[in-house]
Amino acid sequence: MSGTGNAKIAGIIGWPVGHSLSPCLHGYWLDQYGIDGCYIPLAVAPENLAVALSALPKLGFAGANLTVPHKEAALAIVDHSDDLATRIGAVNTIVVQEDGSLEGRNTDGYGFIESLSAAADLNIVKQNPVVVLGAGGAARSIIVALQDYGAGTIRLTNRTLERAERMREEIGGDIDVVDWNQRADAFNDATLLVNTTTLGMSGQPALDIELDTLPKTAIVNDIVYSPLETNLLREAVKRGNPTVDGLGMLLHQARPGFAAWFGREPDVTDALRAHVLAGSSS
Ligand code: ATR
Repeated sequence: MSGTGNAKIAGIIGWPVGHSLSPCLHGYWLDQYGIDGCYIPLAVAPENLAVALSALPKLGFAGANLTVPHKEAALAIVDHSDDLATRIGAVNTIVVQEDGSLEGRNTDGYGFIESLSAAADLNIVKQNPVVVLGAGGAARSIIVALQDYGAGTIRLTNRTLERAERMREEIGGDIDVVDWNQRADAFNDATLLVNTTTLGMSGQPALDIELDTLPKTAIVNDIVYSPLETNLLREAVKRGNPTVDGLGMLLHQARPGFAAWFGREPDVTDALRAHVLAGSSS
C-alpha cells in the first residue's frame, strides 16, 4: 500500500475528508491484490477544486474520487463526463485519460443497485411502487439507477417539497411527489423503501417514521452507514421486513474506480466489510 516510485496513485478529494472510509477500503484492496499503488485522502477547499483537478494528470494520478461538497462542481470542471454523470448532475469518480484529459463518471447508482441486488431479487422494483425518502444528491443517483433498472412508479418524498418537484421535472419519468407530512401514505403496495436523507446518521436527528402501512415484504434500505444499524432498520427488522444497510453501497460504488485506476476488478467480501467497519470505529 505504501507504493514504489512506479506506484499508480489515486485518492479522494473532499472538504473535510478525514471522515472518509475510502482510503481504508481501497488500501485493503491494494494490499489484498499486491498492487503497487496508493490511495490517499486529499483535503481540498471548494475554491481550490479546479486547480487541484487540473493538477491530477500533472502529478501522475490515475484518477480520484470526489465527496462532499465537490460532486456537482466537479461536473463543470472535468473535460468530459459519461452519460450517467451528466444525467445525475454529479461526478464521484474521475479517470485520467491517456491524453491527460479528465473523464467524470458517477458510480453511486451502480453501487446502490449492486448492494441491493446482493440482498434481494431486484425484479421487485419493476412490479410495484418504490418509495424514496429525500431529494439530495444521493437520491438523484439512486432514482436514475432505479429508472435505468426498469422501476415503475417512484414515490418521492422530501422535507422541502419544491426540491422534490424540481427533481421530478429534471429527471423525468414516472415520479410521484408526496408531501413529507403525509409520507406514510406513500407506503401502500410499495416493494422497496429507501432512505437517502441524512436523518439517522451519527450526529443527526433520527428518522421519525411510522412503517404501519408498509407491506411486510417490502425491502427497507437505509443508505446511512454510520451507524450501520439505524433506527429505521431496527424498526423494519422488528416487523419482519427484509433490510439492506448502507455499507454495501459504499463498497460497491468504489469498484469501477479501482478497476479503472489499478487494473483489477475488486471483490466485495465479508472480510472487506469487517475491515472497513473496524476502520470506521477507530
Ligand atoms: P446528499 O447529497 O447526501 O443526498 P443533501 O443533498 O444535503 O445530501 O441532501 C440531504 C437530504 O436529507 C435532503 O433530502 C434533506 O431534505 P431537504 O431537501 O428538505 O433539505 C434531507 N434532510 C436533512 N435534514 C433533514 C431533516 N431534519 N428532516 C428531514 N429531511 C432532512
